[in-house]
Amino acid sequence: MSKETTIVSQQLSTKEGAFTAEFEWPVTLAIDKGLDGAVTNKSKVGYVDGDKGRLIYQGYPVETLAENANYEEVAYLLIFGKLPNEAEYAEFDSKLKAQRKMPIEVVKIMDIIYDHKHSHPMSLLRTAVSVLGVLQKNVMDTSRENELRMGMHLIASMPTVIAALHRLRLGLKPVEPDITLSHVENFLYMLHGKKPAALDVKLLEISMILHADHGMNASTLTAMATSASLSDLYSSIVGAIGSLKGPLHGGANEVVLQEFLKIKSIAHVTEYVAGKVAKKEKIMGFGHRIYKTYDPRAAVMKKYASKLKEEVEMFKIAEVLDKEVVAKYGSKGIYPNVDFYSGIIYKHLGFETNFFTTIFAAARISGWLARILEYRAENRIFRPRDVYIGEFNKEFVERKKRV
Ligand code: ACO
Repeated sequence: MSKETTIVSQQLSTKEGAFTAEFEWPVTLAIDKGLDGAVTNKSKVGYVDGDKGRLIYQGYPVETLAENANYEEVAYLLIFGKLPNEAEYAEFDSKLKAQRKMPIEVVKIMDIIYDHKHSHPMSLLRTAVSVLGVLQKNVMDTSRENELRMGMHLIASMPTVIAALHRLRLGLKPVEPDITLSHVENFLYMLHGKKPAALDVKLLEISMILHADHGMNASTLTAMATSASLSDLYSSIVGAIGSLKGPLHGGANEVVLQEFLKIKSIAHVTEYVAGKVAKKEKIMGFGHRIYKTYDPRAAVMKKYASKLKEEVEMFKIAEVLDKEVVAKYGSKGIYPNVDFYSGIIYKHLGFETNFFTTIFAAARISGWLARILEYRAENRIFRPRDVYIGEFNKEFVERKKRV
């Protein structure tokens, strides 16, 4: 890191570590691979405090929201900057409910292209969102009103798409949404075709709240970079889903569960960790660019996963693995991240492993939308630079004379 960078980050850290201090543009920053150190914009949507292990949405600690709010309230908070009162909630909720249905064209296309052996649900979700964008009117109108309308359409309809994909995979007919149910209740109802148990609703509610926003992560950056060229919201979300799918990002939750299954029992954890260390392989569900301590979302997920009697064996493996990896790598700032315990909860809720990241996407859509809307007000196209390390003035040789 350059001297200038250190000074800038000290200025930015003055208020409780928050990025709130004013600073002059352009600033000199040392930006490392993976845009490490780069700053894209100012935001009020959320704050990730990597040193203290805190996550804030619009001023509220995420743990408080997970325990007390529902997903609709949190989506409203992220987008509008305040928790809704009764009237605001009723209006927002009824607009979401009215848009839950998925157009029949999307179901038909999904049914035709779904290769049950090879299609990954995240690829299908990405395609379904793209089709929803094709069917939508006025997509290129980037006014706040229109982008909010389309964004709420996506918040409302992504669970419908995911539940339909889940049922098509099992050879079952998709279940129509039920507008008497809350967002999360309806998601589980469309998945299993019956009203969900209160505990299951709470588990998915908490999980979706914890995943709703997380600073300038890879998928949010993808969404914003697409949107900043004044492209349409559906294109931005298609890109974000593609980014989230990767195992270094949201896709880690799937690999984590597969690894638990391979480990089989707590007796094999030490050997598993030793094997990974010897081969210098990363252990999925651990590490984070920003958190250098325990991810607060992982702590909440752990608490709820520990209560699931049916998943006790898997939880024990996770807990021992957590301890052993932290003992080995904690001094390097490597701790469990949000993807480490979430799979145990999703498994309990009846999702197949390759559907886990789709739940993440259905939750993160509110954060993607909130940040796109916020940035629109000061929109400027994203255009970083690379460092050219190639040659100059090479001589052109005709094809037939080339070696
Ligand atoms: N297991 C073991 N070592 C790790 C791990 C891990 N999971 N993660 C990072 N490290 C080590 C690296 O080997 C590297 O060590 P070195 O400096 O001795 O070479 C150091 O920590 C820094 O790692 P980077 O990969 O450079 O860190 P980066 O900030 O680029 O990556 C990431 C962050 C992608 C999350 C990384 O920690 C990782 O690959 N974790 C596993 C995948 C995962 O769980 N992803 C989900 C993240 S949460 C989310 O996106 C929702």
